[in-house]
Amino acid sequence: MAVLVQPAFLPLLPLSVDHSAGHYRARVLHVRISSFSTRDLDAARQFLNHNLQLTYSAGFLLQFITSRDSKLLIARDSDSGVIIGVVAGKLARSIADHRICHGHVMVLAVGEQYRRSGIGRILLQKLETTMRTSVTSGIKTSFLQVAHTNYGAIKFYEHQGYIIERRDKGYYQGKADALVMRKQSTPATR
Ligand SMILES: CC(C)(COP(=O)(O)OP(=O)(O)OC[C@H]1O[C@@H](n2cnc3c(N)ncnc32)[C@H](O)[C@@H]1OP(=O)(O)O)[C@@H](O)C(=O)NCCC(=O)NCCS
Repeated sequence: MAVLVQPAFLPLLPLSVDHSAGHYRARVLHVRISSFSTRDLDAARQFLNHNLQLTYSAGFLLQFITSRDSKLLIARDSDSGVIIGVVAGKLARSIADHRICHGHVMVLAVGEQYRRSGIGRILLQKLETTMRTSVTSGIKTSFLQVAHTNYGAIKFYEHQGYIIERRDKGYYQGKADALVMRKQSTPATR
C-alpha cells in the first residue's frame, strides 16, 4: 500500500533548490510500505546494520519470513525505491496464559536523513495494527526494549503511547541497560 506522507510531516526534509525560479520548493515524499521478502535480505541487512550500528545475521532476518508470528515491514521512497525505514516484531504469548498475546517490537529504524518526518510513527502503527489484527482476540499490550541512553528513541516511543515499565540491567551484551517500554491496547483495538 502506498502511503502519502503529507508535507506537514516534513519540516526537516531537505529542500531542493529550484535555480531557474530562484526559490526553494519543499519535497513531498511518497512512502511505500511492503512486507519483507528474501529479495530484500541484503538491502535490509545493510540498512539495519548502518542505522542501528548492530550486526544482524541473515538468519535473524529470515525468521520474519519463515515464522507466522513474526513480521518485518519495509518503507521505501516510492520514487527511488531506496529503503528509508524498517520495523519488525513478533507475537509473544503469556507464560501464564498461552491465549494472551503481546506484541514485541524488535527492530525499528528510519534512515538518518528521513527522521522527524513521521515515517517511524507510520511504521510502528502499521506493525501494531498488523500484530493486533492477526490474532482474533487481539493483543493485550505492545512492548519493546530500548537502550537507556537512546533518549531520542525513548521520546519517540513515549510520543507513541509507550510507558517505561522497568530497567533491565546489562541487557545489551552485559554492557548497557535496556528500558522495557509498554503500551496497553485499548479494549476497542484488541
Ligand atoms: C527512533 C526513530 C525510529 C524515530 O523515527 P522518526 O521517523 O524520526 O520519528 P517520527 O518522525 O515519526 O517522530 C514522531 C514524534 O516522535 C518524537 N520524536 C521522534 N524522534 C525524536 C527525537 N530524536 N527526540 C525527541 N523526540 C522525538 C517527536 O515528538 C516526533 O514528532 P515531531 O517530529 O512532530 O516533534 C528514529 O529516530 C531512528 O531510526 N533512530 C535510530 C534507530 C533507533 O534508535 N531505533 C530505536 C531502537 S529501539
